[in-house]
Amino acid sequence: GKGEYDHFMLKEIHEQPTSLAQALEGRIDPRRGRIALSEFEPGTFDDVESVQFVACGTSYHAALYGSLGLNQAGVQSTALLANEYSVVAPPVDDDTLVIAVTQSGETADTLNALRQANAEGARTLTVTNVVGSTAAREANDALFIRAGPEIGVAATKTFSSQAVMLTLLSQRIAADRLGEPPADLESLLPAVESMPSAIEEVLATSEAASIARQYDDSQSYFFIGRGLGYPVALEGALKFKEITYEHAEGFASGELKHGPLALVTPDTPVFAVFTGQEDEKTLKNAEEAQTRGAPVVAVCPDGHPAIAVADEHLSIPDTDSKLAGLLANVQLQLVSYHAADLLDRPIDKPRNLAKSVTVE
Ligand code: M6R
Repeated sequence: GKGEYDHFMLKEIHEQPTSLAQALEGRIDPRRGRIALSEFEPGTFDDVESVQFVACGTSYHAALYGSLGLNQAGVQSTALLANEYSVVAPPVDDDTLVIAVTQSGETADTLNALRQANAEGARTLTVTNVVGSTAAREANDALFIRAGPEIGVAATKTFSSQAVMLTLLSQRIAADRLGEPPADLESLLPAVESMPSAIEEVLATSEAASIARQYDDSQSYFFIGRGLGYPVALEGALKFKEITYEHAEGFASGELKHGPLALVTPDTPVFAVFTGQEDEKTLKNAEEAQTRGAPVVAVCPDGHPAIAVADEHLSIPDTDSKLAGLLANVQLQLVSYHAADLLDRPIDKPRNLAKSVTVE
């Protein structure tokens, strides 16, 4: 049951420290600077020339997060919408690794892409929450995220576990492929180990409820981020539209000025995600919206330069830039939840949506 919580979504948001700790159990060894994904023999990914991630919805945002991280680690990678794969798939061969990211392991679009990759001779792997799912059976390999059952239609804890596990997997692929661990792995691992307690801190101190109240009669809600903050902005907007039924969009910060800025008014709050990578540019983009009257909510650590500029601040603990966006995402989950609650929406079962989309 929901226990002390009004909705499964809120319960599942609060389960994230535990579900993530469960995902990480035995899989990292910060003292020896090692990732210990024992499902993959040493050298498993030595021959991987390039990686294609395929997924839908929230899982696509996690896939994009993993793909951008893999590019930053020096391995060629791309994230594709699984429902587009049959028309836009780049060529594959046996040195291409296709990773299907799917919480349920049963999403028809994602299974179709996985099957196409299998048929064309790619190596395949699935990152999924469900042991024994179709994706787990059909892919060559599986990495389980161990998030436990998720009842709310809106994916929350599964996204966090997917994104952290994909961060680790990307580091592992890069280490195998490039013949040495990525330079910053040693500082990343303790930060990964601290993620459950960092999320705990966000949950205990979040002011998302009052921010949601403050902007509850806005016309549209925009989310911006750069680099690893971009998939977080997309996910923030998806969650917001999905459960509030209000209009929301996520943009790469630098794209605002290429069109969307025309939509910006005092009735369109802009949530800006700061990850520690080129934050000064994101701040400049946020200021461009603010100049047009939009209130800016900075999601960043205490003491960050954005706070002096922004109208409001949602605080996240300071951490590695590969993970900061995932703490910001927890704040955005809470903003969406509280905004939907104020509107009295059926949060766990939004209209027109199903938990598992098994049709094409
Ligand atoms: O089970 P999957 O991860 O493959 O599902 C894909 C999407 O349908 C799913 O992530 C959906 O976007 C979320 N439930 C939205 O919150």
